[in-house]
Amino acid sequence: MGTQQYDIGVVGLGTMGLNLALNIAEHGFSVVGLDRDPAKAQALRTDAGNPRVTATDRPGAFAEMLKQPRAVLMLVPAGPAVEGAIHEFAPLMATGDLLIDAGNSHFKDTDAHARALASKGLLFMGMGVSGGEAGARHGPSLMPGGPREAYDRVRPILEAVAAKADGEPCVAYLGPGSAGHYTKMVHNGIEYGLMELIAEAYGFMIRGLGMTADQMHDLFHNWNESELNSFLIEITALVLAKRDDKTGRPLVDMILDVARQKGTGKWTSQDAMDLQVPIPTIDSAVAMRDLSGYEHERNAANQTLPGPRNSFDGDQAVFLTQLRQALYAAMILTYGQGMAMLRRASETYGYHISMEAVARIWRGGCIIRAAVLEDIRAAYKKRPDLPNLLMDARLAQAVAMRQGDMRAVVRTAVGLGLPAAAFMASLSYYDGYRSARLPSNLIQAQRDCFGAHTYERIDAQGTFHTHWGTE
Ligand code: 6PG
Repeated sequence: MGTQQYDIGVVGLGTMGLNLALNIAEHGFSVVGLDRDPAKAQALRTDAGNPRVTATDRPGAFAEMLKQPRAVLMLVPAGPAVEGAIHEFAPLMATGDLLIDAGNSHFKDTDAHARALASKGLLFMGMGVSGGEAGARHGPSLMPGGPREAYDRVRPILEAVAAKADGEPCVAYLGPGSAGHYTKMVHNGIEYGLMELIAEAYGFMIRGLGMTADQMHDLFHNWNESELNSFLIEITALVLAKRDDKTGRPLVDMILDVARQKGTGKWTSQDAMDLQVPIPTIDSAVAMRDLSGYEHERNAANQTLPGPRNSFDGDQAVFLTQLRQALYAAMILTYGQGMAMLRRASETYGYHISMEAVARIWRGGCIIRAAVLEDIRAAYKKRPDLPNLLMDARLAQAVAMRQGDMRAVVRTAVGLGLPAAAFMASLSYYDGYRSARLPSNLIQAQRDCFGAHTYERIDAQGTFHTHWGTE
């Protein structure tokens, strides 16, 4: 392997690591890969076929081949594998070297790793990488956080490999500590919400309207030409067109209806609860994935629990237009919930995240990239401290003019007995957010009645307690 010194190291040569290493090399940087599996190291050397790229299965050799101060990108699964890689590498690194965790690590782990490595004189960054295999190879959206000086050191590489949207790289320094991994977690929470909404729309089409996969493919394909234009709508059309080699039927029909999860959506809901930020569309998406896992109970209940007997008797074309409009409104509400959460987290955790930068780097490369992010970006550009997307006149109008469509879709779900948790949650969020007076006054009265928790009045300052007559 000679004495060549490489610009950057990539640890973990699975799908993501291998493709990112090839992407880095393609942009003129030299890269050395490391994987304990010699076959994977060999695969990178063979796939690259390029003197700028090499790989090894020996950590010591890997460390020696890196230019100093070293920069190492880890693409290993979150949790024990990240812990293991850090333990293995920290002793091989020297003061000022930089370790970047580019997996989907929990932000609290990232903070702990940064602290532990800082005490050894090492720099640590947590960086969200979105876009899957194709993104890693041809341009992902990158969400880095950590010490600013660390980011500046790898910035030219990150800007080169990231996706470009309107010529702008889909990467930005997001803030200190775990700002990057936190942003990626919220990205995934939004991803869960959007995927559930699209799945519910598909549920209407297949169970409510009896549409074929080919018809649904055409529809999603057309939808992708509309305001719904987005990666997830695009791949939905693609998925619906795929035939199963074994049976010749649409492959989607042959797939078990149990949605798995690695946990980032759940983490989003968990932290939103801690921050007391409502993200009901995302929560319902997590819950529906969980419910999908109860397939045996669902099958049993299917025999015992009745639903309405009626079938769809409206105008199909009219309903599909309402569904498209409702989906767009619910998508905006989902981004809105996620971004309101990110804004609150940024204040609470001291990230100082630019929401405009987040919208900008989500426009390309990532799973939730969508045309609407242009409008979202514009909203934050106009008002960097925008508390909620519903406070932006343009986005508010986009949702408001579709509120009737959301109601029609929810009414149809109720009438037909179809689950539409994410649509319902989105609409309730909208209705709750625009309520000057919620029925929460009754909850306060109940709390005071059973637990003397006190309440506040609308006409006077201070807290009050009443003897409600239960004693
Ligand atoms: C991305 C994705 C990715 C995530 C998968 C699976 O941005 O490229 O978010 O990071 O791991 O989508 O996530 P779940 O297993 O939780 O569905």
